[in-house]
Amino acid sequence: MKSICVLPGDGIGPEVVGCATRVLERVTDELELHMADIGRAAFRRSGEHLPTDTLAAMEASDSSLFGAVTSDEGTGYDSPVLRFRKELELFANLRPVKNIAQVSTAAMDLLIVRENTEGLYTMDEHEDDAGVTTRRRVSKYACKKIVEKAIDEARRTGRKGVCCVHKANVLRKSDGLFLQVFRDIARTHGQGLTFSDQLVDSAAAKLVTRPDAFDVIVTLNLYGDILSDLAAGVVGGLGFAPSGNMGDRQSVFEPAHGSAPDIAGKGIANPTAAILAAAMMIEHLGMTEEAAVIASAVSETYRAGDSTMDVGGNLGSHAFTEAVIKHVVKIERG
Ligand code: NAI
Ligand code: MG
Repeated sequence: MKSICVLPGDGIGPEVVGCATRVLERVTDELELHMADIGRAAFRRSGEHLPTDTLAAMEASDSSLFGAVTSDEGTGYDSPVLRFRKELELFANLRPVKNIAQVSTAAMDLLIVRENTEGLYTMDEHEDDAGVTTRRRVSKYACKKIVEKAIDEARRTGRKGVCCVHKANVLRKSDGLFLQVFRDIARTHGQGLTFSDQLVDSAAAKLVTRPDAFDVIVTLNLYGDILSDLAAGVVGGLGFAPSGNMGDRQSVFEPAHGSAPDIAGKGIANPTAAILAAAMMIEHLGMTEEAAVIASAVSETYRAGDSTMDVGGNLGSHAFTEAVIKHVVKIERG
């Protein structure tokens, strides 16, 4: 048995996580799901967006499945997402983006490996009369961890090429350090893989014009955040990007999208990213076959022409999930 901390969160978070847990419960009875609160509901209960008992529950579980939270305006807001990434030392954010819905012809099958703990996300901002200064941290330690993770993941998933995406022409010291670490590790530990690097701005253009050009991208925090949404956009939108926040002792899986307040409560959110995040989670926990069944069932659902409204279909979140479960049952029966 594996214990999973389920954190629905705000907006469409509970809707898509509910769909993902329904699929999980269909493919395995080896999971114990425990609910915990995060975001606004947690704040109302405890005065914190990431209460101590929620963090402890995540820490005590084998993994966590998270929906999304709505960020509050104002400078006093302490992002629960940034906090759990930091507290659980989830240094890598794995974001696979694949064209499964075929709403575009992009031959994209990409893994973005995003540094997850520093860069511009250290919340280190200082105000003076003239404006605001933000300090951006790039450490050798984090560069090494993320590059090694990208190489490990490339090998584990049978991928061939790793591209370091950076802005070392302008940010010569910080991104320069990242690029240097990448080249050093590629030289000493890169057997069997090909390595390249590209500036982040031209990489963004190339993701649109040649979506098949990249295999694995390893990049810093902000670039990875933006490029993964861009890549998701190329294959149909934010409903298609699952993600895994990975550390050495813990992991948290989530759709890469946010709480989508504009569609929350309508039952129309695309649960694909959340369902695929759940598949990534059980694969990480060793349930490789069950994870593959979920991924195939999602692909089969799209192949059969069933989809949600964000990609031109007419199914709500619930009906789409039922269609996925139908394919799970079909695949399991062989
Ligand atoms: P968003 O990802 O929530 O939504 C952007 C657009 O994509 C919206 O039009 C939304 O309807 C659509 N969309 C997103 N997911 C979808 C899905 N599964 N199915 C169909 N359409 C989908 O990003 P936005 O609007 O920039 O942020 C909204 C809130 O979410 C903010 O408070 C933001 O801070 C928060 N956020 C939270 C994240 C997290 O909890 N990890 C990540 C990103 C944003
Ligand atoms: Mg994002």
